Amino acid sequence: MGLLQLLASLTLVAGLVGTCHAYSLGDFVPTARRGQFQTVSLPIPKPQAFRPGDNYKIQFSFAGDQFVTPWLLVMGRYLSLVSYLDVELTHTGGELRSVRAAVYDLPHRDAAAHPLLVSQWANASHWPKPLLVQYRWVAGAEVRGDHALLLLFAAAAALLGLVLSNAYRSYRRHLAAFVVAVAAPTQPKAD
Ligand SMILES: *[C@@H]1O[C@H](CO)[C@@H](O)[C@H](O)[C@H]1NC(C)=O
Repeated sequence: MGLLQLLASLTLVAGLVGTCHAYSLGDFVPTARRGQFQTVSLPIPKPQAFRPGDNYKIQFSFAGDQFVTPWLLVMGRYLSLVSYLDVELTHTGGELRSVRAAVYDLPHRDAAAHPLLVSQWANASHWPKPLLVQYRWVAGAEVRGDHALLLLFAAAAALLGLVLSNAYRSYRRHLAAFVVAVAAPTQPKAD
């Protein structure tokens, strides 16, 4: 439930899942919300009976549970006051390949630039806490189509060169033998 609420805060588009279910009045309807942005402030609702210093962990799931992050500690006794989350999405060939997520202390420069955010984290009675999440796309190592073709041509050319040089060496050997054979009868006999 907590995770759903967290994901809900990324809201730009809302969609309903599970349309071929029979519902009656008052039933729970599974709901998913999705959003797209590079840096978002994710409101973390107050868990029941939360006390300052308690650990709070969140987990992210991407591409329909294909990639699930470990549980990430974003609030706790041993963390500095304001955390931010860095999420690295690696793509190769138009597909999401991996997701890495890590929690960091908000750098001083950013903390200075966002005094409201800092005061909201410091204020024990202010909820939800705004967790900054930064999403970064990185291109994974990938052999592009044209590079692969170029590599293939280079390999073929090298192979051809090897075959030709072998053929040439063998030709020279044969030619030398032929010249010797042709020259042999005309050589004066040493008698
Ligand atoms: C702390 O947060 C509460 C709830 O948002 C607010 O009413 C109160 O004024 C805040 N206190 C300070 C010192 O900002």
